[in-house]
Amino acid sequence: MNVLIIGSGAREHALAWAVAKSERVNKVFVAPGNGGTALIGGKVCNLPLKATALEGLLEFAQSNHVDLTVVGSEHPLELGIVDLFRSAGKQVVGPTQAAARLESSKVFSKEFMRRQGIPTAGYHVFGDLNAARSYIEFPERVYPQVIKASGLCAGKGVFIALNRDEALKAISELFEERIFGNAADEVVIEDFLQGEEASVFALTDGTRYRLFLPAQDHKRIGNGDTGKNTGGMGAYAPAPLVTPEVLQKVEEQIIQPTLKGMVEEGYPYTGFLYVGLMIDHGEPSVVEYNARLGDPETQVVLPLLKSDFITALQASVQGSLGEVPFEMHRKSAATVVIASGGYPDHYETGKPITIADEVSGMDDCLVFHAGTSLEGGRLKTAGGRVFSVTALGDTLRESIDRAYLAVEKIGFDGAYYRTDIGAKAL
Ligand code: AMP
Ligand code: GLY
Repeated sequence: MNVLIIGSGAREHALAWAVAKSERVNKVFVAPGNGGTALIGGKVCNLPLKATALEGLLEFAQSNHVDLTVVGSEHPLELGIVDLFRSAGKQVVGPTQAAARLESSKVFSKEFMRRQGIPTAGYHVFGDLNAARSYIEFPERVYPQVIKASGLCAGKGVFIALNRDEALKAISELFEERIFGNAADEVVIEDFLQGEEASVFALTDGTRYRLFLPAQDHKRIGNGDTGKNTGGMGAYAPAPLVTPEVLQKVEEQIIQPTLKGMVEEGYPYTGFLYVGLMIDHGEPSVVEYNARLGDPETQVVLPLLKSDFITALQASVQGSLGEVPFEMHRKSAATVVIASGGYPDHYETGKPITIADEVSGMDDCLVFHAGTSLEGGRLKTAGGRVFSVTALGDTLRESIDRAYLAVEKIGFDGAYYRTDIGAKAL
């Protein structure tokens, strides 16, 4: 069969790698892909089509016998790629536009959780500056308060306001300066949750679901979780924080009611469901939903999947997910992101990259590319996050050490990475 993967990050490189492993797959197209997916070769090739060029993607899928499309990133989902492909009779992994509102509209997701009794932070919704200001200025208001633009903001639309002044500044940036444009037409202000974060990923056909191993991301740019928020600087799985007891609560109190609620409300949820959790003394609540897999978490949860990925994906679109194997390796995985100097603020691109030859021969080590491009056979940096270097090991310690061994053999001008990925779990 032929598979189309949509997106250009390390997550999509990992998706392409996992799909291409299957003997059942003849061809893997990645649109637009990156330098890493260009270098895989064999059955994998890039397409010069943007992830948001829905009509072009459909036309390609129709005229090139694509049997299954996997949507990696959130924007095409928000634009309704799943509805479009389905209406043309093409099989696609992802939620419909209405169901993807679990990610694309924080107002929708918060109201949904309230209706369904799913644990999450208490919140209020505001449509203008004055209403938000009166709420913030209420004398008994306790800080921190968390202020979020409702729409998609590439993970940047969240402010943790430690006091009233920071909260007022945040709502002014959202409503007056409109730094996120229409994405902040509505703003959610929610209570600050204590605890530790983890991510749980499900693949679902709408009613049944299968879980990957729980993972933990490292969102801040600096060691010790300091500095600015990023797309994610590293991850590991399984996360010991998510004990079997916690996972059972996540399934019973969050995943099952989410899927059941979406069916009841008329927009069954299919594809990948990402549940971002805060776990406080063993009690999970939802920080956010995403309608896709996480990046960099995918780069650890996919290599830990032992069963054939494409078989599970196909079952998820055909409604037979209960009947296929979905087993995990009894190993740990860690991934370290190498970023361009300056990220997540201004950074330069076009830097030549060197990867020592021995890296390709390293056992249980996978170099996933994010912002790279291949120009005339030369690999160059092309984004903020450049690589996500994954290693597996019998223990978490082993996987971390192995990942760093490979990271040290990859170089470009200004390369930056955190040196403490996974340390908090050891
Ligand atoms: P989100 O985009 O909603 O995942 O928020 C980005 C990050 O902000 C999360 O990963 C958390 O670290 C933090 N965050 C969001 N909401 C809350 C909350 N209610 N309490 C504490 N931290 C939060
Ligand atoms: N790792 C965070 C995300 O994918 O949204």
